[in-house]
Amino acid sequence: MSEIKKIALLTSGGDSPGMNCAIRAVVRTCISEGIEAVGIKKGYKGLLAEQLFDMDAASVGNILQRGGTILQSSRCKEFHQKETRKKAADILKKNKIDCLVVIGGDGSFNGAHLLSTENNIPVMGIPGTIDNDISGTEYTIGFDTAVSTAIDAVDKIRDTAASHDRTFLVEVMGRNSSSIAIKVAICTGAETVILAGKDVDYDDLVETIQRGQKRGKNSSIIIVAEGQTSGRSYEIQQKLNEFKIKSRVCILGHTQRGGSPMSLDRYVSSIMGHQAVIGALKGKINHVTVVRDGKVKLSPLEKCLTKTDQLREDNIILAKTLAI
Ligand code: F6P
Repeated sequence: MSEIKKIALLTSGGDSPGMNCAIRAVVRTCISEGIEAVGIKKGYKGLLAEQLFDMDAASVGNILQRGGTILQSSRCKEFHQKETRKKAADILKKNKIDCLVVIGGDGSFNGAHLLSTENNIPVMGIPGTIDNDISGTEYTIGFDTAVSTAIDAVDKIRDTAASHDRTFLVEVMGRNSSSIAIKVAICTGAETVILAGKDVDYDDLVETIQRGQKRGKNSSIIIVAEGQTSGRSYEIQQKLNEFKIKSRVCILGHTQRGGSPMSLDRYVSSIMGHQAVIGALKGKINHVTVVRDGKVKLSPLEKCLTKTDQLREDNIILAKTLAI
C-alpha cells in the first residue's frame, strides 16, 4: 500500500500547449487510484500564497483542447531562496500533501529538486515547455504545437515574400535552444537558419541569399532562433543593410505559446500525467516523466536539471542541403 494519499499539482514557468492535458491526466489518475488531488494556482507564487483547492473529475472536464493552463503559471524569483522554499514546504506539510507534481521547465525542476532535498518533500516532474530543452528527455510538452504554429505563420509570410520579392527574418522562440528554429526551417524550406548562442556568419548568410537570387529565387526566409533576448533579428537586419540586402522582420513571439494542443502534445501529456501519479504511488518519487526512444519512462529528477539544446547536426545539415 502506498503512503501517498494526497497529491498536489502546479504549472510553473512559461505555459505550453498540452499542460491542461497533463493536469487532467494527473487529476483523473488520482481519482481512479482513490487518492485526493489538490490544485495549486499560479505555480510556486500561488503555493506561497496558499492558493490550494480540491480538484475532482469535473474540474478538469472540457480542457484537453484548451491552450494555456487552467492552473495558471508564474516565474517565481523568490523560490531561489532557501527560506522561501522552507515556507513552501511548511504549507505543503500543513495541507497534508504527500507529493507535489510540478509541470514546467528546467527552472521549475531546479526549484522542485531543492524543495525536495532541503525539506524532504516528495516531488514528481512533468516536462512542459515549448523549448524542448530539458536534459534527459527527447520531448517536452508543447514543442510540437509551437512548431506547428510557427510553420503556419512562415507559410503565410512566404506568400507575401514571394509576391514582393522580399527577404524576411522570422524570429522564433526557444531562448537558448534552437530546437524550434531548426524544425521550422526544415518544415518550411527556409533558405537558412540562424542558431541561438552563435555569432552570425554574415559572409555565409549573404552568400546564401545571393546564390538563391542568382538561380532565380525571388524570396528568402531566414529563421532566427531568438537567443537570450527577443529582437535579435533587428540587429541582423541592420547588418544586412550594409550588404545592400533589404529585409523585413517578423517576430512570432508569444503566439507560439498559445493555441489548442496538437495530437502529439495531447497524447504525450496524457501518458506523462498518468505515469507521474502511478510512478509516485509505486514509490518512484523525485522522478521526471521523460521520452526516450519514443517511449515515456521515469528518470531521476537530478538528471533533468540542466538545459540542453537538442541541436542535431544532421538536422542542421538537412536544412541547409534541402534549401539550396
Ligand atoms: O517558456 C519558454 C519561453 O517561451 C522561451 O521560448 C522564451 O524565451 C521565454 O519563455 C519568454 O518568457 P516570457 O513569457 O516570460 O517573456
